[in-house]
Amino acid sequence: MRRAALAKPIPAFEASQSFKETEMTVALITGASSGIGSIYASRLAARGHDLVLVARAADRLNALAEELRSTHGVNIEVITADLTDAAQLGTVEQRLRADPPVDILVNNAGAGVAGGLANSDPAALENLLRLNTLAPTLLAAAAVDGMVKRGGGSIVNIGSVLGLLPEYAPGIYAATKSYMLTLSQSLHTEVGGQGIYVQAVLPAATRTEFYARMGGDISAMPAAMEADDLVDAALSGFDQKELVTIPPIPDVAAWEAFEQARMTMAGGFTNTKPAERYRA
Ligand SMILES: NC(=O)c1ccc[n+]([C@@H]2O[C@H](COP(=O)([O-])OP(=O)(O)OC[C@H]3O[C@@H](n4cnc5c(N)ncnc54)[C@H](OP(=O)(O)O)[C@@H]3O)[C@@H](O)[C@H]2O)c1
Repeated sequence: MRRAALAKPIPAFEASQSFKETEMTVALITGASSGIGSIYASRLAARGHDLVLVARAADRLNALAEELRSTHGVNIEVITADLTDAAQLGTVEQRLRADPPVDILVNNAGAGVAGGLANSDPAALENLLRLNTLAPTLLAAAAVDGMVKRGGGSIVNIGSVLGLLPEYAPGIYAATKSYMLTLSQSLHTEVGGQGIYVQAVLPAATRTEFYARMGGDISAMPAAMEADDLVDAALSGFDQKELVTIPPIPDVAAWEAFEQARMTMAGGFTNTKPAERYRA
């Protein structure tokens, strides 16, 4: 049996050598009307970035925009868009391809859906896939074009630890979130060497409106992180240029061991014969 050379690992926590520090002036944040996205907006405005805020709730976006303009003196655009709607998503894609250029895309908007796959509503499943996977993919594609031409930019994708722990989430939510991790790793491999920084942020339970929107109750969770703490940790990971940021895990060695196991397994992927255990 021919053994493959160990695949080149994709370091998860690395200082990207090729990352080019550019003047990060404009950040576009999806799902900025509440929870994690609204904290990202506050923190990035405090860092001096102009913002493009995207969500459906125009009143909440406008109130946040007004507050951040007056507190931080930054320019803020508001785009009211339902990201499950192709035409409205297209408006946000157009903005990402327009000037002034967007230097940081935070793909944060997302939702869950209660229940499993059996007896599910196909329309609800489709909507969730549009919001949690299709929209961030098309927005990243729209953003990265210009970033590659300019030689710099950052794309932050909000996943979830449930992408690594699907046993705890019935239905398709965990799968949509593991998609965000894989997309980030692929994108990093594709454009990380061209000055583009990609980060996947994997929150665990975080105190936001997320659970209430699904008809759930965050107080029923055994523990939850405050959204401020989550975003501050995510931005620390951003500053350290981590590819994957998992704020609650105490020791990064756990993630590194997980990645090492993946690469050990990858050593067998190019074998041309099935493993011994499958040969009667
Ligand atoms: N909270 C947690 O425990 C947790 C854990 C892991 C990962 N996450 C992830 O974190 C991200 C942010 O969630 P959150 O916890 O901050 O929850 P949240 O408070 O419910 O925020 C969700 C945001 O997404 C926006 N949104 C929802 N549907 C949309 C649509 N169709 N079009 C455009 N925007 C839409 C919402 O704004 P509008 O309603 O105004 O559109 C809101 O701003 C999500 O991707 C979620 O999967 C959360």
